[in-house]
Amino acid sequence: MADRVLVVDDEQSLRKVLAATLQREGYEVQVAADGEEALGALDRDGADVVVTDLVMPKMDGLSLLRKVVARHPDVPVIVVTAHGRVDSAVEAMKAGAFDFVTKPFEHAELKAIIAKAARQSDLNARNVVADEGALRTEIVGKGQRMIELQQIIAKVADAPSTVLIQGESGTGKELVATALHEKSSRQERPFIKINCAAIPRELVEAELFGFEKGAFTGAVQSKPGRFELADGGTLFLDEIGEIPIEMQVKLLRAIQESEFERVGGVKTTRVEVRLIAATSRDLTREIAAGRFREDLFYRLNVVPVFLPPLRERREDIPLLVEHFRQKYNARLKKNVEKIEDEALAALASYTWPGNIRELENVLERTILFAEGTVIRAADLPPSLRQPRPADDSTPAPPGVPAAPGPMKEIVKEQVQAIERDLIVRGLEVTGNNVTRTAKLLKISRKSLQMKMKEFGLRGDD
Ligand SMILES: Nc1ncnc2c1ncn2[C@@H]1O[C@H](COP(=O)(O)OP(=O)(O)OP(=O)(O)O)[C@@H](O)[C@H]1O
Ligand SMILES: [Mg+2]
Repeated sequence: MADRVLVVDDEQSLRKVLAATLQREGYEVQVAADGEEALGALDRDGADVVVTDLVMPKMDGLSLLRKVVARHPDVPVIVVTAHGRVDSAVEAMKAGAFDFVTKPFEHAELKAIIAKAARQSDLNARNVVADEGALRTEIVGKGQRMIELQQIIAKVADAPSTVLIQGESGTGKELVATALHEKSSRQERPFIKINCAAIPRELVEAELFGFEKGAFTGAVQSKPGRFELADGGTLFLDEIGEIPIEMQVKLLRAIQESEFERVGGVKTTRVEVRLIAATSRDLTREIAAGRFREDLFYRLNVVPVFLPPLRERREDIPLLVEHFRQKYNARLKKNVEKIEDEALAALASYTWPGNIRELENVLERTILFAEGTVIRAADLPPSLRQPRPADDSTPAPPGVPAAPGPMKEIVKEQVQAIERDLIVRGLEVTGNNVTRTAKLLKISRKSLQMKMKEFGLRGDD
């Protein structure tokens, strides 16, 4: 399905040109002449990306941006600012704009940003975050590890010290970073995120430190980087393990001296920023392999926070299930009142390689497809439907049937179930792109296709 862009500008000619350009790019375009009209359209029809001018009658671009951030937090907003108004661009970014372009802009530049925003929008739609700000950072869990985590958060939230959050994918790293910011006295100041894994390596420096006009081809206007935008607030460096080694010295200096230069600039900029970094990689291994600088590691690792994988804190699964049941009942307008014990047992004994994110996705899907008010074990995805061992004192490894049986066959079945599950999730992540799924799973395209056929996952079967 085509991504839908909502173009908001009070100048009709501009709206028309932009709409036509974007339609040619394959977007579905809707237009609005001011903030009020835009908000109405968004509430009614939704959109994947909003592009808005700032100066408009009735509701201006900044008010619209704030309303969209509050009411439709998953929809990225791109702001068009007047030439030379860096202050309004900075203000928009702080208010939660996805990005901005400065008039007069080149269509190529705007198109690239919209494409990036549309990708982000797809991701948001998949890893849905709660609508209500309050729910967003609710860290659910009452087990010992979670109590310890809450204590650490309470203690360090308001300190300026750098925090390094380590944990497998989906364990809640971003959630903890957000909580740290919201519980600090910086909460009213910007919380700026940058995902180091998502930026092409040649652009990392420009994203972090900004650039001056003419610094490289395509730099038609100067632009502040994430450090500048985060001034006085918190900068969250996500997937820090992915940052190119040649950038690490510059980052180290910026952290140590609180100053840096924009790309192509000579002026030194000073900022006051609280840093939080996160990684799902084992940085000590990265250091040993020469891919991560030891000095940067020590500078980041002032307060280490380890998030345990879900399989090591199964005691929290029932609480999490309850949390997500309420969340998705509200979000999907469903009325699931109960998860049967057998279903809960299956959820509690699965290994959850994708951790809380996987649990959340499974519940979202299951609640979405639920017919009545009760979720039974049979409503869960097949890979989860393993009976729980009868004797709790000697639990079988997760996923292994309770009753012993022919070993070779059981092992084979289990391996196939895991493979199938990995492939299904790979396809989900890549939007059913076989080539990218094969890359992700590090198997050849051919063997992926054979397995998809074997498991009945091919569209044409
Ligand atoms: N303790 C928790 N209570 C409630 N929800 C949680 C908890 N931990 C994580 N989540 C939810 O799980 C999802 C994944 O969390 P988050 O994005 O913070 O993980 P992550 O470690 O950054 O993952 P990745 O490495 O994949 O980026 C989010 O929707 C988050 O709200
Ligand atoms: Mg994350």
